[in-house]
Amino acid sequence: MSKSFPGPKTKAVLERGIPLFRNGLRYAEESAKASRRGYRSVRQIVVDRAEGDFIWDMDGKRYIDFQNGWATNPVGNAHPEVIAAVHEAQKRFGFHYDHPLRYDLAEKLAEIMPGRALPRFNYEVSGTEAAEAAIHLALTYTQRRYIVTFSSCFHGESIGTKLASGYTSDSNRYLEAWTGGVIKAPYPYSADIPAGMSESQYVDYCLWYLDNHIPKCITPKDNIAAVLIEPGLAEGGNWIPSTEFLRGIRRLCDNNGWLMIADEVLTGMGRTGAMWAVDHYEVIPDILVVGKNLSGGIEPCAGIAAKDEILGDNLDFSSGSTFAGTPAGCAAGLKTLELYERYDLVNQAKRLGELAKEIIQAWEEFGIVQQVRCNGLLMGVGFKSPNPDEENWWYARSVRGRMLENGVWAISDHEDTIRMYPALNMDEQTLRDGLEIMREAIEYVDTHGQLEGDSPAWPTGVAGF
Ligand SMILES: Cc1ncc(COP(=O)(O)O)c(C=O)c1O
Repeated sequence: MSKSFPGPKTKAVLERGIPLFRNGLRYAEESAKASRRGYRSVRQIVVDRAEGDFIWDMDGKRYIDFQNGWATNPVGNAHPEVIAAVHEAQKRFGFHYDHPLRYDLAEKLAEIMPGRALPRFNYEVSGTEAAEAAIHLALTYTQRRYIVTFSSCFHGESIGTKLASGYTSDSNRYLEAWTGGVIKAPYPYSADIPAGMSESQYVDYCLWYLDNHIPKCITPKDNIAAVLIEPGLAEGGNWIPSTEFLRGIRRLCDNNGWLMIADEVLTGMGRTGAMWAVDHYEVIPDILVVGKNLSGGIEPCAGIAAKDEILGDNLDFSSGSTFAGTPAGCAAGLKTLELYERYDLVNQAKRLGELAKEIIQAWEEFGIVQQVRCNGLLMGVGFKSPNPDEENWWYARSVRGRMLENGVWAISDHEDTIRMYPALNMDEQTLRDGLEIMREAIEYVDTHGQLEGDSPAWPTGVAGF
């Protein structure tokens, strides 16, 4: 394996980030410390070019793209038709808030919403803004004060969505005075089940917590406006909930007058091999949060879809900033949906997901693999350390590092999972090649132990990584 990864040009750009971006001070200090111990630099790259299933770093090295712009490029990198549609909208409108494309896209979205039951749409710029808008909509519509969210969920990086997220308590540090309206409930993972409980008992416990623990110990049921749930944890490690859980949430919402908000920013628009992840469960939420894929990988576009009565007449709800629903963003969304129809992309994602599942589920035989998770092209591999004094996530890091060195780009932040989000139209052979490189990386780390430089001596966060 090359000792000089990343290449010199990529490294030079990364080093320019040290005085500019967050954690730069820590990076310099930690790098110096680590290099004194003979460790290599953290495996990080900068994209010089992106096209279709691939990206290239500053040194011209090519990677199969499982990172997918953090799961925002459903039709592959820099799709020429989406780019052309965006340019055309920019030339015609520049930026104005009131333009016909926002009507065209809202009509299309109403047609594809679960059960066609969420016809009203409110544009937002990002998934974060959209998740926040959904919360405000629920509070104002029900005139109640609490939202229930879950452990390991991620809804964004604004103050409101940080407080609603449960994937790490670190991101709530120093925001303690801002909390109050969010109740965090346990999400039933398929691993890390409390000792002695079966998977199905754990699901029952999580539903019991909502139905009994919260009203007895935290707030009465009629104080709760909504349950905000990811129907597939994304940033929290690509966990896939059971049908029993999702339907149980719907039932509790119906019984108690709570709104069910599905945050489908990452799971939505085909990522799981269905248009919406809730479709797998035959559950229709009251509010659905959309983002990421709707941009077609080119221009941000996000928003919330809601039932008629919830968003049709609610003077207390306000949201939607200046750049919400730009002509370019709506043009990207419209062209993307046209490509979905033309190439039957949701079914293509389903087919590729099934193929990938068959390949990756065999990896549970490796000692360092804790669990393989796959719902369509929402794929995750969880890792475990064979040694009690080593963290699980070091192993995820090591495998991801070796994959990167061998030409596959996937996501693993400070987590014990590697997450993969191939484009919904990825070439089948490219997907197979990428997975084979990943398998080899797992085998390598399984045999040789974690790579040098993947212990906590190695910082993250420079250049937003
Ligand atoms: C489920 C979910 N909700 C909300 C967000 C925030 O979206 P954005 O980063 O576009 O603000 C994300 C981002 O990863 C997400 O995965």
